[in-house]
Amino acid sequence: MRVIIQENYNKMCLWAANYIASKIKAHNAGKDAARPFVLGLPTGSSPIGVYRELVRMNQAGELSFANVVTFNMDEYLGLPHEHDQSYWYFMHDNFFDHLVDMKPENINILNGMTNDPEKECADYEARIASYGGIDLFMGGIGVDGHIAFNEPYTSLSSRTGVRTLTTDTRIVNARFFGNDPEAVPAQALSVGVGTVMDSREVLILINGHNKARALAETVEGGVSSKWTCSALQMHNGAIIACDEPACGELKVDTYKYFLDVEKKERL
Ligand code: GLP
Repeated sequence: MRVIIQENYNKMCLWAANYIASKIKAHNAGKDAARPFVLGLPTGSSPIGVYRELVRMNQAGELSFANVVTFNMDEYLGLPHEHDQSYWYFMHDNFFDHLVDMKPENINILNGMTNDPEKECADYEARIASYGGIDLFMGGIGVDGHIAFNEPYTSLSSRTGVRTLTTDTRIVNARFFGNDPEAVPAQALSVGVGTVMDSREVLILINGHNKARALAETVEGGVSSKWTCSALQMHNGAIIACDEPACGELKVDTYKYFLDVEKKERL
């Protein structure tokens, strides 16, 4: 596992955007360019700065999304696209609507209004497989360490399916629903921990003091479904990009170790 420690949120986002851009460009210049680059994407406040920088690059003609297919991590069950808290709305508002060459047919987001959640989720897994899997999954984590909507004690081999949100997560997300936890949908559709783990690379953004414990559990804790993010320790291509405030619960030695090994500025 690599842990990239950046001074602040903006620098973390710039690092992550540059990393993603370098991967898309390398893919398009390589022998696999005939198939699209498959990018997994999250919602939440953590990735907003990354989306802003990717949009800037795209609009400046530095990065094309014409050969990129995206799969989002999750979606609230029961929210229509036009609901301003649906993840469909979030992704279009913060990212897709601003890209000059993203093809709408290349955007994949679980349908929270489906009448058949099981089929929707099975089809999603099949669609990912039809593209040959996900090249790079960017994600964030919740304060309880959930990755996508895989709350504590979700199986680390779980696949895309229906998830019930914990009361804690509904309280945390209530800030987007008029501060009313009851207004936050009780369930969501989400890729599984296993779905994320099958990606060739995983890049997780962890920023802010409120994620400090989750970062420590992800990096230093034992692999356990109590902290679903800890599964990343078993992934051969996992990168955590974090900011200084999120490092507050890391051991000094752990912090120094990652600063030391990353000094060489590998991209
Ligand atoms: C939600 C999403 C997660 C996201 C998490 C963190 O629960 N389902 O995918 O990682 O929020 O959000 P934020 O980045 O706003 O802290």
